[in-house]
Amino acid sequence: MNGNIIIEVKNLKYKYRSVRRIDEKNETSVEYKEALHDINFIVAKGEKISIIGPNGAGKSTLLLNLAGLMEQKSRSGEILISGKILDDKNLYNLRENIGFVFQDPNDQLFSTTVFDDVAFGLINLLNKRKDPRARDKEFIKNAVNESLASVNLFGIENNMPHFLSFGEKKLAALATVLSYSPEILLLDEPSSNMDPKNRGDFIKLIEGLVKTMIIATHDLDFAYEFSDRTIILNKGKIIFDGNTKSILKDKNFLEANNLSLPLMFKNLI
Ligand SMILES: Nc1ncnc2c1ncn2[C@@H]1O[C@H](COP(=O)(O)OP(=O)(O)OP(=O)(O)O)[C@@H](O)[C@H]1O
Ligand SMILES: [Mg+2]
Repeated sequence: MNGNIIIEVKNLKYKYRSVRRIDEKNETSVEYKEALHDINFIVAKGEKISIIGPNGAGKSTLLLNLAGLMEQKSRSGEILISGKILDDKNLYNLRENIGFVFQDPNDQLFSTTVFDDVAFGLINLLNKRKDPRARDKEFIKNAVNESLASVNLFGIENNMPHFLSFGEKKLAALATVLSYSPEILLLDEPSSNMDPKNRGDFIKLIEGLVKTMIIATHDLDFAYEFSDRTIILNKGKIIFDGNTKSILKDKNFLEANNLSLPLMFKNLI
């Protein structure tokens, strides 16, 4: 393996199994929906990639698979993280290098305080490495406060996540992965619901992080600013993988795929 490659996806397919009601007597049928077809790409260490595509294109399904959160039996093909196959055997070890932020922050936050949610991944990682700092209250407190401060959340560590605003939940969800500093960040729609100040600060924050990042987004202005490389998905297939700056100015291509120009170009192209 080339030492510079951190993620390899080879012929990845993923099928959802769903049960549908077929008549008034509540008869049901089981159906399979192939949400990803033959996905292939390679990510070099430190790359910043946007994944864009219309609703239902498969963006979340792809990120969930990369994070090892989808059942292995429903997929075929291979995902390699740092040269190791992401399977049930390697998952536990590979996960410590991956920070995944769900599209819906309610899927991420499960503790009774924001503090516990942000501390959770860090304490787990330190325990796994038998690092005594897992029990050092001062160390954990500083790390949690630093993560919360990096996403502009102050003084809410004792609040119940359930009662935060949706935008605050998105920021807290981000802090839960920043706290343990994984090498790979997979973020699903991170900027949605952020106010302009938080969105601007978030862009500055991730631009300053030396990490491999793959971000699914509908915010094409954000994609234009954040990433050199863009992958476009449509109907479960990669229909473009290349330079962000050229594809996000291609009005005809974007419109043919239910996308549109970034707002900054709307009246210019
Ligand atoms: N749990 C599920 N069971 C069955 N089908 C699903 C399930 N989750 C997603 N799908 C289907 O898989 C396809 C891809 O969904 P996915 O959520 O990955 O799209 P997306 O590109 O993230 O969309 P969005 O922009 O709306 O977030 C869609 O057609 C969706 O209906
Ligand atoms: Mg999605």
